[in-house]
Amino acid sequence: MEHSRHVFRIALVLVVAISAFVLLRTLFVPRTYGDYGPYRGGNVVEQAHVREPRHAGSDGCTSCHAKQAADRKTGGHKAVSCEVCHGPSGIHVQAGAVKGKMPVDRSYQLCARCHRKIEGRPEKFPQVVLDQHVPAALETGVCLQCHNPHSPKP
Ligand code: HEC
Ligand code: HEC
Ligand code: HEC
Ligand code: HEC
Repeated sequence: MEHSRHVFRIALVLVVAISAFVLLRTLFVPRTYGDYGPYRGGNVVEQAHVREPRHAGSDGCTSCHAKQAADRKTGGHKAVSCEVCHGPSGIHVQAGAVKGKMPVDRSYQLCARCHRKIEGRPEKFPQVVLDQHVPAALETGVCLQCHNPHSPKP
């Protein structure tokens, strides 16, 4: 019987260790951990409070810029989001109110980034050899003389 004290001691150490582990785990692991496996979805919501979302998506401009939105929807740039050319909504609108100017890039480089003729691009994608396509000097605003950026078919 006197040897059972050793077993009792080691069992006690085990119980204390397991209890400490369970206690610390409940204290330090966030409640939403495990909702979606090892990915904690609740973190996205927390981050959205710490840092305001900066992008509004393709429909985030329609309420205030109906003309440009309608042009875009019906024209060749329906697949190009407003924010690709203008920058993230957060520069311009915060909590529904206009807070700053939206960048407007009128350079030919903006268009050239997607439409300059490059061997690697799919043949069907509209692309031009810049100095053959443009009769004038390549300077800021030159593409806009013939193309509306919101509905680019001339
Ligand atoms: C392909 C690039 C591109 C896309 C996509 C684009 N824009 Fe623009 N946007 C421009 C350029 C370039 C100008 C300058 C036009 C000028 O000066 O003639 C401009 C001008 C504007 C202006 C200033 C007024 C005007 O018409 O000149 C507003 C407002 C505007 N865009 C809103 C939008 C909204 C809203 C969307 C999405 C529905 C959008 N843009 C999508 C390139 C783009
Ligand atoms: C709450 C309304 C509102 C929303 C939403 C909004 N805008 Fe504007 N935007 C305005 C107003 C008002 C002006 C004119 C500001 C001025 O004349 O100074 C403007 C001006 C602009 C201009 C011209 C440059 C400037 O800042 O004056 C561009 C480009 C533009 N907006 C693009 C966008 C794009 C792209 C989005 C979506 C990501 C967007 N806007 C969303 C109200 C809005
Ligand atoms: C982010 C990439 C991007 C930028 C920047 C861009 N475009 Fe486009 N453009 C596209 C895509 C995507 C299409 C649709 C291609 C398709 O239908 O296969 C397109 C289509 C076009 C077309 C053919 C339209 C039609 O109806 O046949 C023209 C013209 C054009 N763009 C001119 C311009 C001009 C001018 C600018 C600069 C103001 C510009 N693009 C900036 C991506 C871009
Ligand atoms: C003098 C007027 C003019 C200027 C300036 C101009 N374009 Fe065009 N663009 C046209 C016309 C007209 C067409 C349609 C006929 C054609 O396909 O050649 C066209 C067609 C296009 C197409 C579609 C080509 C295709 O294969 O479907 C793209 C892309 C384009 N332009 C991009 C640009 C870019 C980028 C600039 C600025 C560097 C620019 N354009 C400047 C008149 C112009």
